[in-house]
Amino acid sequence: MLNIAVFVSGGGTNLQALIDAESRGEIKNGKITFVLASNEGAYALKRAEKAGIASAVVNRKAYASKDEYDKAVLAVLEDKNIDLIVLAGFLSILGEELVSKYRNRIINIHPSLIPLFCGDGFYGKKVHTAVLNSGVKVTGATAHFVNEITDGGAIILQKAVPVEQGDNEDILQYRVMRQAEWEILPRAVSLFCEGRIKINGNKTEIM
Ligand code: GAR
Repeated sequence: MLNIAVFVSGGGTNLQALIDAESRGEIKNGKITFVLASNEGAYALKRAEKAGIASAVVNRKAYASKDEYDKAVLAVLEDKNIDLIVLAGFLSILGEELVSKYRNRIINIHPSLIPLFCGDGFYGKKVHTAVLNSGVKVTGATAHFVNEITDGGAIILQKAVPVEQGDNEDILQYRVMRQAEWEILPRAVSLFCEGRIKINGNKTEIM
């Protein structure tokens, strides 16, 4: 059984999707054992508490650089035997030390079809604003591995979602979460825990 740490910054609906999938037996060979938040106000912490999952806050604002932040996060993880880190609405960028220590063992959920509407500055509702301003008729979500390039790691799963006339950021964000993120993130996590993701450079194959 693999130990999973989920990193969060906000509402934690993706964390909830993972918790619910685990309780339905849909995270095969994996268990969420720890939640780390980048700020104490994250509602996701309440979801962790309700589910009986240990949590900690490592406040991004308390550290001058992402490298210092990395060291603090690594120190918290040290004795926890974590096999997989899941970034579920974690809005801080991780540094190179953490990424390299957990190489091919960090999964992120991004609310667009990568390589569109991603990279530095594209997070949360900003992604959906950019999608709406562009006029595309289809968007979606991507579960991918994390490397040193923001949203640049190997793609595991993607799901497309229509952009409807009259959408605003809130409506579109909710549709992308409900139809794509809450489905593909738990599935990607389970595939990882089952050892079914083969990585070839920047591509993956599901076994
Ligand atoms: C989600 O839409 C997630 O995909 C996005 O932030 C939201 C967090 O919601 N993440 C990013 O934009 C990362 N670049 P949640 O806290 O309710 O899961």
